[in-house]
Amino acid sequence: MSAVDLRVFADAETLAHASADFITARARDSIAQRGRFTLVLTGGSTPERMYRLLAEPAHAAAIDWSRTVVFVGDERFVPESDSRSNFGMARRALLDRVAVPASNLYPIPTDCTGPAAAAERYSAKLARFFNSEPDGALAPVFDLVLLGLGEDGHVASLFPGKPALHVTDRWVTWSPPGTLPPPVDRVTLTFPLINAARAVLFLVAGDKKAAAVCQVLGPSPDWQRFPGANVRPTSGALHWHVDKAAASMLPPASAQRPPDA
Ligand code: 6PG
Repeated sequence: MSAVDLRVFADAETLAHASADFITARARDSIAQRGRFTLVLTGGSTPERMYRLLAEPAHAAAIDWSRTVVFVGDERFVPESDSRSNFGMARRALLDRVAVPASNLYPIPTDCTGPAAAAERYSAKLARFFNSEPDGALAPVFDLVLLGLGEDGHVASLFPGKPALHVTDRWVTWSPPGTLPPPVDRVTLTFPLINAARAVLFLVAGDKKAAAVCQVLGPSPDWQRFPGANVRPTSGALHWHVDKAAASMLPPASAQRPPDA
């Protein structure tokens, strides 16, 4: 794994702008190199502002949406029309506002008997897209996986102390909720799939995240207590975009500060 590329921004707004630029550049490079851009969205409040920026003409026009394929890293087991749905939020903030074909959208299905069935169906959907066997040893390689970080150190829906942390023979699994709201079952990509990505970008803002950021990026983190620490792309790149508040407990020299920070 290459070194962590950690960037600290003045505030959540600056972070959102820089992250939208980052994604636009990734989309351009992926499409130039491989003819498509496979993007995994995350839920949470931090990315929502960035999704809205991506939908604005300056960014939206710079991305070839016909070649962009959109997945989601975790989902609350609620219908997409429920305000707690991660994909529902992404649709309202971004996907309904850009020219992405409906056939390029891969939400996690929640119209099934339970979250375990949903996980199985998503794995089969991924396998069809990537022309592979569901849960096969060779995990699909997404161009970019976006992730948030919970105050408790969780990532996607991989919560401290929950069995989903240890699932390595499946691409997608389910989990009961962690301690943070909303208290609904989840469906989540597993670590092997996340870590197979070409690039992972964490988006983390706010002082409530400072302790978790410090644990996850600190020396020898305990990943079972702070699951974000187990995101270590096997051969891909690991980027962290955090605002000053979220970085406030990190040692001063750990971040590369861009000129506008
Ligand atoms: C979810 C998310 C989750 C989120 C973090 C950070 O479904 O809750 O996907 O993993 O990314 O909890 O969320 P915030 O940015 O809202 O703090």
